[in-house]
Amino acid sequence: MSERQSIHGQWSNRLVFILAATGSAVGLGNIWKFPYIAGENGGGTFVLVYLVCIALIGIPIMMAEIMLGRRGKQSPINTMATLASEEGKSNGWAALGWMGVVAGFLILSYYSVIAGWAMSYVFRTGSGMFTGATADGVSSIFSDLVSDPEKLIAWHTIFMVLTMVVVSRGVKAGLEKAVTFLMPLLFALLLLVLGYSMTTGYFSQGLEFLFTPGEITGKAILIAMGHAFFTLSLGMGAIMVYGSYLPKTTSITQASLWVAFADTAVALIAGMAIFPIVFANGLEPGAGPGLIFKTLPIAFGHMEGGILIGVMFFLLVVFAAWTSAISLIEPAVAYMVENKGYKRVYSSVLIGIVTWFVGLGSVFSFNIWADKTWSIPFLFEDKNFFDTLDYLTANIMLPLGGLFIAIFAGWLMRKQASTEELNTLPVIYKVWLFLVKFVTPVAVIIVFLKAVSVI
Ligand code: PFF
Repeated sequence: MSERQSIHGQWSNRLVFILAATGSAVGLGNIWKFPYIAGENGGGTFVLVYLVCIALIGIPIMMAEIMLGRRGKQSPINTMATLASEEGKSNGWAALGWMGVVAGFLILSYYSVIAGWAMSYVFRTGSGMFTGATADGVSSIFSDLVSDPEKLIAWHTIFMVLTMVVVSRGVKAGLEKAVTFLMPLLFALLLLVLGYSMTTGYFSQGLEFLFTPGEITGKAILIAMGHAFFTLSLGMGAIMVYGSYLPKTTSITQASLWVAFADTAVALIAGMAIFPIVFANGLEPGAGPGLIFKTLPIAFGHMEGGILIGVMFFLLVVFAAWTSAISLIEPAVAYMVENKGYKRVYSSVLIGIVTWFVGLGSVFSFNIWADKTWSIPFLFEDKNFFDTLDYLTANIMLPLGGLFIAIFAGWLMRKQASTEELNTLPVIYKVWLFLVKFVTPVAVIIVFLKAVSVI
């Protein structure tokens, strides 16, 4: 067994790690993104592909990431360099860590903008401005917000500051406190909204939309696979860095299964809570990134106790985003602390400021740059800054990161090392090895080729 220790500290116990990893996984991806991309991509079949990807690609990669992190005990960049040299491979594997740092930073730049929308909706809902509002009224309130760069910048700034405050306090004082308090609250609030949806009379229609398979395209499969990575926080080192703070005694298999289960449950519950409200109000499932903001307030505006439920719902979204955002920036902060010798606070602030600047591009994508779009041959057409970042990170960078993690863990790492670190039942080890060696790489490559219409 390796005797390395993380210089950043260690989780207090197994439960805290599970909460932290679940906190990272459960975020805007589950509550904001999953419903709108499921809506845009036709519902049932998309959900099915997504679930298959979680089971066959997501869980094995999560186990691999935690395993590599716990063995390397450093930021993903240094972990990959150290483990590669231990296996007699090039320390060019550090590039995998670097790609993750860049992906995390790009994701956080737009993630923070959307989290800002949710924050502003806590107050909008609380002010009672949706009470009795029509669909048009609610849509125009959303347009007013996103067409105003100053407002968006203000909320984006507040969210980035909140994120940096937690990250700069470090593993125990910051991350651990935040998740132990926020995660249980989040589950409770989500169940409350689900309870309301069951009373709309459209619950079965919502279920039918989410679970009845129809047709699907290559692009939709890429989006479903990309989303499996995004929603489980895989392919960029977030789970790897959390794994590096994990004590040796925790079962990686159990922890991974639990996190994947909790994350999937939250996404499906969010879908089941949102679509009945969409149908009950004759709304459009394919409304895009504005879906939860254009639809749910109508429901909140018409239901008994809607102000309270609405405020709680958007608070839930903000909390979920917050516990994910800290994990997006943690690999970069850990690297700066390790290699530059900077203090955690200084590193967090520095990275936070750069991320904030890049986020302005996403702020402007909804107003003054809305028409500035471009196309990349074979990849996508007519995407603005925000759409481009979302597409490149979730659908390209994360699956690519996952592919290389699978190759490293499955093909390059000595079996003795992975057996020792995973420390699980022989049959589970065999299944895991088969999945990371063959299924994940082949699936990612096929989906990539299909998405660029090569096959
Ligand atoms: N999993 C988060 C979500 O679903 O919102 C987003 C995310 C966090 C992606 C951390 C990647 C990551 F490393």
